[in-house]
Amino acid sequence: MSDNTLPPGSTIGILGGGQLGRMLVLAAARLGYRCHIFEPQIDCPASHVAKHTAANYDDTAALDAFAKAVDVVTLEFENVPIAAVERLAESVPVRPGASALAIAQDRVTEKTFLNQAGIQTAPWAPVESQSDLDAAIQKIGLPGVLKTARLGYDGKGQATVRTVNDADGLYAKLGSVPCVLEGFVDFALEISVIVARGLDGKITCFEPVENIHRDHILHRTLVPARIDASVAQQANEIATRTIEALDYTGLLAVEMFVCRDGRVLVNEMAPRPHNSGHWSIDGAATCQFEQAVRAICGLPLGDTTRISDCEMRNLIGNEVNDWPDILAQPGARLHLYGKAESRPGRKMGHVTVLHNKAQ
Ligand SMILES: Nc1ncnc2c1ncn2[C@@H]1O[C@H](COP(=O)(O)OP(=O)(O)O)[C@@H](O)[C@H]1O
Ligand SMILES: [Mg+2]
Repeated sequence: MSDNTLPPGSTIGILGGGQLGRMLVLAAARLGYRCHIFEPQIDCPASHVAKHTAANYDDTAALDAFAKAVDVVTLEFENVPIAAVERLAESVPVRPGASALAIAQDRVTEKTFLNQAGIQTAPWAPVESQSDLDAAIQKIGLPGVLKTARLGYDGKGQATVRTVNDADGLYAKLGSVPCVLEGFVDFALEISVIVARGLDGKITCFEPVENIHRDHILHRTLVPARIDASVAQQANEIATRTIEALDYTGLLAVEMFVCRDGRVLVNEMAPRPHNSGHWSIDGAATCQFEQAVRAICGLPLGDTTRISDCEMRNLIGNEVNDWPDILAQPGARLHLYGKAESRPGRKMGHVTVLHNKAQ
């Protein structure tokens, strides 16, 4: 442990107050930490379990008071304005920091950074006009996916381009904002690696897990992933190289495509706990949320070993109404996020089914 260790009893500030923040708070509390969230929305999932500053990210007085009230700041939402993060960083450590966050917020800077670090992505080109889009299609070919460079999540801000007709007026349809065109990857499957780097520079990876999407939203995560050892090793190496190149402290999720020829391409990264890591709460020796706490507080990183094969399934929209049946199912572990209102596409909770409990 280093001199910079923040011991249990310290207060962790969290930017964002969704379900990721809520589960981070619960893991931090188990280790004796207090948490204080900063989130504009009043009745958010993390506000039920932590102290809450409900203010906008441009409210400098609220940011300054928050910085005084906490010992370290982290985030559960990557689209926090960089100016807010930089202001906090003047008086309190922010982990991960503003530079890594800025890279992850924009698909152009993210892909440029990855490619410069020698990490492969789908072929891509920046698009800032309809004529850029037409030129990018010539260069990359079809099918492709046009994505807004910023603020996309759960498939929002994306359109598949199958034919040149699909591209007609598409730049305007996505809002006439900076975009990237990516070549469509005919992947065998999608995986992700959750990697953490401590204050001492030590790195741990959770094993790669397999992600199955429905309507562009994560539906199920299978652990272990149905990949061979060489793919798993490539994936862990990519995640390790990424977190090192970012000079990052904290927890990072790296989403990847496994191609049919066994190559692994990075899709995108998230500078925070990730939906595909929820299995680790019930299925690993240390969960991703505790690992994030350990990394940002300068504690030794935990053991990421899987203790049970498992499957995590998101409860999206009305699926949350199945909670009584899930509770009755042996081996099923139910997690609800406390959201009052269910809407189509809204993540309301998840269930992890353990397949083989430790002997
Ligand atoms: N270039 C691509 N080729 C094939 N499928 C893609 C591509 N880009 C995205 N997808 C599909 O859409 C999903 C969501 O895209 P992603 O870039 O991860 O955006 P989000 O920020 O919404 O998670 C991916 O997990 C994948 O299933
Ligand atoms: Mg994604």
